[in-house]
Amino acid sequence: MIKKIIFFLVIAFVAIQFYPRNNNNVSKIKSEYALSISETTSDSVLQILKTSCYDCHSNNSVYPWYSNIQPFAWWIAHHIYEGKESLNFDEWGTYTLKKKNHVLHEIEEQIEEGEMPLESYKWIHKNAVLTDQQKRLIYDWVRKN
Ligand code: HEC
Repeated sequence: MIKKIIFFLVIAFVAIQFYPRNNNNVSKIKSEYALSISETTSDSVLQILKTSCYDCHSNNSVYPWYSNIQPFAWWIAHHIYEGKESLNFDEWGTYTLKKKNHVLHEIEEQIEEGEMPLESYKWIHKNAVLTDQQKRLIYDWVRKN
């Protein structure tokens, strides 16, 4: 019985590998609507967002090696899909002022509550964990905008 179950699981694991992977690299070309350095957005803020948020909140994700393996690929694709639905920094310029203000408020809230970056992401991406100083820079940025 155990052997049959293991055999079945191995077959299932192999079978799901044939599922195509999503690839969130919409365009290597920088979108004209992307958030960029400006009067209100400093280079340091942009760098923090790129390091800690862009894998799920932009049109270009840097994929870890295990993203080639199912079911991780589904799991990661789901995070990216959901993340981009709430916020896509590469489409920042298309947002209305009202939406920007709402999202900025959400960003502050998510960081304050420690919800973002996602917990599972921080396990692997230690450099995405925000320091207090980085958080302060983000809060200042939110208030300036
Ligand atoms: C590993 C993927 C991932 C990373 C990295 C990530 N997010 Fe998210 N984010 C998500 C997902 C998935 C959602 C939607 C589901 C949810 O709210 O939990 C989301 C939702 C959000 C929302 C909307 C919340 C709401 O309730 O409307 C904001 C704002 C946000 N993220 C900001 C950030 C910021 C800022 C960073 C970087 C400091 C970041 N995220 C990093 C995956 C991610």
